[in-house]
Amino acid sequence: MNFYVLTLFPEMVMSGLNTSIIGKGVEKGLLNIEAINIRDYAGNKYGKVDDYPYGGGAGMLMQPGPVYRSYESVVDKIASERPTRVVYLTPTGNVFHQDMAKELAQEENLIFLCGHYEGIDERVLDKIVTDPVSIGDYVLTGGELPAMVMIDAISRFVPGVLKNEVSAETESFHENLLEYPQYTRPEEFMGEKVPEVLLSGHHGKVDAWRREQSLLRTAKFRPDLLKKAELTEKERQFIQKSLENADK
Ligand code: ADE
Repeated sequence: MNFYVLTLFPEMVMSGLNTSIIGKGVEKGLLNIEAINIRDYAGNKYGKVDDYPYGGGAGMLMQPGPVYRSYESVVDKIASERPTRVVYLTPTGNVFHQDMAKELAQEENLIFLCGHYEGIDERVLDKIVTDPVSIGDYVLTGGELPAMVMIDAISRFVPGVLKNEVSAETESFHENLLEYPQYTRPEEFMGEKVPEVLLSGHHGKVDAWRREQSLLRTAKFRPDLLKKAELTEKERQFIQKSLENADK
């Protein structure tokens, strides 16, 4: 899978994605990440890419020309018959989530456009952006961190990137339930023991305990998710009882 990031800070993007699992995915040739410096397409010898907003207001805006030319350079390079989706990182976009990551992972090429300053001239956004995306209700100084967050989450769905392929599916947010707690050695840490059932070697009991823990965690921390989860009547009753007991 190919990720092309249009940015004023290419080193930031590349240095953030060259380690750990994503770095390994790149080494193995499963992922290709390229950062394109929008300033290289400034079209003037000063490398100037921003200007004052018409109508006044605070800060500077990124001009449309350099953004469009950097985009064109990628499109020319990809030379695909299918149009390439362009994700624009903005707090005013659709909020990113796991299903969106999974869906975007089906693409062969993705372009990310990172804004800076107060934003980007709307005309170029209208021309090239297919997917405006926010990573949450807070405002960052630029789109680079959100692009890196998205690339990380999407890459986990690219076959071969995770050693244990099932984990992309079973982890937190799968089926709208949070992941159960996990433990490793030692068996006792600061007086706290690993739950007995996990040492039992009884897979059926372990699975049942994990499911219960997922339900309880989701009920406690993300009741909004629980509404969307597919639960049996027995599981709903179990949650109800646990919540009642917690209130006592
Ligand atoms: N740029 C600035 N803040 C952002 C956010 N929350 N999500 C995506 N892009 C952004």
